[in-house]
Amino acid sequence: MTAELEALRNQAEAELQKAGTEEDLQTVRTRYLGRKGLLTALLRNIGNVPPEEKPQFGKRCNEIKEELSARIDQALAGLASSRRDEVLLRERIDVTLPGRGTRPGRVHPVTQVREEICRIFSGLGFSVVEGPEVELDYYNFEALNIPKNHPARDMQDTFYIDENIVLRTHTSPVQVRIMEKTRPPVRILSPGRVYRRDSDISHTPMFHQIEGLLVDRGVTFGDLKGVLTAFLKQVFGDQTVLRFRPSFFPFTEPSAEVDIQCVICRGQGCRVCGQSGWLEILGSGMVDPEVFKNVGYDPEEFTGFAFGLGLERIAMLKFGITDIRLFFENDLRFLEQF
Ligand code: FA5
Ligand code: MG
Repeated sequence: MTAELEALRNQAEAELQKAGTEEDLQTVRTRYLGRKGLLTALLRNIGNVPPEEKPQFGKRCNEIKEELSARIDQALAGLASSRRDEVLLRERIDVTLPGRGTRPGRVHPVTQVREEICRIFSGLGFSVVEGPEVELDYYNFEALNIPKNHPARDMQDTFYIDENIVLRTHTSPVQVRIMEKTRPPVRILSPGRVYRRDSDISHTPMFHQIEGLLVDRGVTFGDLKGVLTAFLKQVFGDQTVLRFRPSFFPFTEPSAEVDIQCVICRGQGCRVCGQSGWLEILGSGMVDPEVFKNVGYDPEEFTGFAFGLGLERIAMLKFGITDIRLFFENDLRFLEQF
């Protein structure tokens, strides 16, 4: 029996050596130390041991049980700790790495210019209003005296959504929407996005305009010139060279475009101004009586002027930027300069 006991011990020892997982270890425990385990069974048969050997046999049996149980606990603890080490290694944090700073945001140059212009006109008593970017053909064209099939529609290559709905090509439809629901005097400014099929160094398919409209009794072209000159000198400085150039818009009569001397080449002629020395920045004119009739204003009683300017153009001139597309590329090296 004693030899059998020692053989069992060696067998258990050999199995322990091979046990690589927690499950293996629990199996060994059950096989030898469980209630129906091999060692337990042997101890139960102590009756067959000669009386003089009984104390020795019992003692040895308990020794082996304790030793085995301790070895299993130890192996289990070893497994748990190496698993913990693995997790710690996987989730290791290098506390010597430099931290990631948060970069302060900046106001986009186009937004800066929009805010400045709105501030200047607020000072002149204009209030800021907005209109929809997806617009009815009626407001974008018809109410502005540009009937279907009129050649003036070619001036603005339009994105059509369907026959009656367009992406607005300018902010002028806001004039009509405002006049439809208010009586003069009207003094509004309306910034927003507009869309045209257009793309080169000074044109993008989406750009920003600001529309201005002033209607009252006795408003003259002199008022238009005075307001726009005062405004442009505030934006570009007192020394700014401007010119009012006769032009045509179906919704104003007479009409003028305002050019500013090219600030890139100082009027010498360059790529940005198409060698002309001048850059067109806004369209303007006295509101056409036809438009007043469409909104129910009496053209005999009221007169007014309107203008529409390209925000990117103004930002280009102000900051000396030579390619309008830079505004929309979101390159941080560009944006961080403002
Ligand atoms: C108009 O859009 C008229 N609605 C302006 C107006 C309003 C006239 C009220 C009279 C009364 P125009 O198509 O010229 O006009 O555009 C106005 C300005 O938008 C231009 O002077 C230019 O600065 C800018 N612009 C025009 N097309 C583009 C484009 N594709 N990309 C960037 N800026 C543009
Ligand atoms: Mg134009």
